[in-house]
This record gives sequence, C-alpha cells and structure tokens, in this order.
Amino acid sequence: MEPSNKYMFKHKGAYFVQNVTTAEYIDSLEDFEIRDSDVFVVTYPKSGTVWSQNILSLIYHEGHRDGTENINVIDRVPWLEYNLYKVDFVSRPSPRLFTTHMFYNLVPRDLRNRKGKVIYVARNPKDVVVSYFHFSKISVTLETVSDFNIFLEKFLAGKVIPGSWLDHIGGWFTHRDDFNILFLTFEEMKKDLRGAVLKICKFLGKQLTEKELDTVVEKASFDNMKRDARANYENMPESLQERGKGHFLRKGTIGDWKNTMTVVQSERFDSVFKEKMKELPFKFIWDINEDL
Ligand code: A3P
Repeated sequence: MEPSNKYMFKHKGAYFVQNVTTAEYIDSLEDFEIRDSDVFVVTYPKSGTVWSQNILSLIYHEGHRDGTENINVIDRVPWLEYNLYKVDFVSRPSPRLFTTHMFYNLVPRDLRNRKGKVIYVARNPKDVVVSYFHFSKISVTLETVSDFNIFLEKFLAGKVIPGSWLDHIGGWFTHRDDFNILFLTFEEMKKDLRGAVLKICKFLGKQLTEKELDTVVEKASFDNMKRDARANYENMPESLQERGKGHFLRKGTIGDWKNTMTVVQSERFDSVFKEKMKELPFKFIWDINEDL
C-alpha cells in the first residue's frame, strides 16, 4: 500500500478520505455501542450505496414515502466513519440506520458479535471501477485521475479508498458468521428491484403493505431518484462534490464498463481479478443481457 497523500490517509490497512475523519475517530468506533435494531448498509464505493440508503430510508420512514419530510438521505442513513454533520449518533432514536465502506474488521465490536443488522451490497467490479473513475472527477475529496488506465491500475492494486475490492468483499464474506448479514448484488436489484426490496424487508422483519411496497419500488427507481434531490446527493456540500461537473446518479446500468474499458484493459482486469473472484459465491452480471 502507498502512504497517505493529500486525498487519503492509511489507517489499519485501509484508506480513508482526508479531512472528513481521523484515525482516532475510526479507533473510537470499536467501542461504539450497537443496538439490536441498528441497520447498516455496507458497500465498497460505487456499488449501489445511495440506492440502498434510499431503499432503507423508504422502508423505515413513512415521511419519505409520502413526501411529508424533507430530509436528505445522507441524514437519514448517515455514514459511520464520515460523520459529516457531527451528528450525535448516541442520542439518535431507534431504529438507527447507518452506512459504511469500512472493512469488516474495523466496524464496531458489537456489530461483529451479531448485534444489529448488515446489508452488504456488491457490484460487478468492472462497473465499479468505471463508476469510480467517473465519480473521482466530480468528487472534491478524491484525486482526479484523468487517464482511466492509471485509475484501473490503482484499483487493481487496492490503492483507492477504502482499499482492495477483493479484500473488502472477501473479508465480509469470510467473516459472515460473525454478523447478522444479508448479501445482495447491484445486479439483482437492477433486474428485480421489487424482489430485492422484499428480501430486505424479510431480513429486517418489516411488513409493508402492497401499496407501501409499490411506493418504495417506484421511488427507488433510477429515474425517480435522479429527480429527487433528497435521494441523489445533489444537496451534498460544495466542499465534497463539485457542482456542474456531473451527477452522482450517472447511468445506473449493468455493463457500462464496456463503454470505457478497452479489450486490453478488460483482459488485464481479468488476469488479476477473475481467478480470485471464483472463490466468491456471488453471481455478477457482466452484461445487461445476461440472466442472473
Ligand atoms: P454509475 O456511475 O454506473 O451510474 P454508490 O452510491 O455506491 O456511490 O454507487 C453509485 C452508482 O450507483 C452509480 O453508478 C449510480 O448511478 C448508481 N445508482 C444509484 N442509484 C441507482 C438506482 N436507483 N438505480 C440504478 N443505479 C443507481
């Protein structure tokens, strides 16, 4: 791993965004008390985080479903390691919803002892690296790498926040028995959003009416989220996301990597990742026309 730089710092084998968190704060999270009713969205970046945050929020907050509350999704389902608005998590009423990109070993001890619930969402890493590359151009907190080839090499070497994709998903999967965890993929959400929402509800023990379920599915569609500023991160402070350079919700498709990666880059990716990915039991779709 490379040492820390202007954009990221290294702590306990992982990279974190500079200036929005500290090593001391990350360490303090080990003792952060988890409640049985807490729910965590866990993702590697660009894997469907905001989508899952929005779905969780729609399941839990009636005001979000019926439009009576004007609260951004980042405030409803805040980041654990990047407490941007210095929210007092301890005084937050239950059920608390959180988001994290952290590796399994850095999350609160209680969570690793099967307290609370975790929804881990994974995405085809070729789409992840392409989405990440485009995102790095609009995010003020990330280093802008204008050459995709260079970004790809950084990604393959795990020199991006929070580290290696394979280690992230591999760690969470290998240690799945330590957690109350549901694994989902971006691809299954894309192919059957209603089925994915039902899976989440079942895991959370939440019983929605058919009408409520319909609303969640409708409001969590790409087109509706793109229009809903509370759900699409358009309200992020200028200090984090540069306006006018692009949108957080970019394409939201499966297989977009083909529009950015050359055949040589794709083969390079396969030579590093594909063999190791066989150890993972996830079915990723590499092309929109493939069936799950
Ligand atoms: P693209 O850049 O490929 O469009 P994250 O929230 O983890 O950063 O992931 C962002 C990716 O999820 C972006 O991918 C974004 O468009 C996609 N996304 C967000 N909401 C979505 C939705 N409702 N449906 C499909 N994709 C969505």
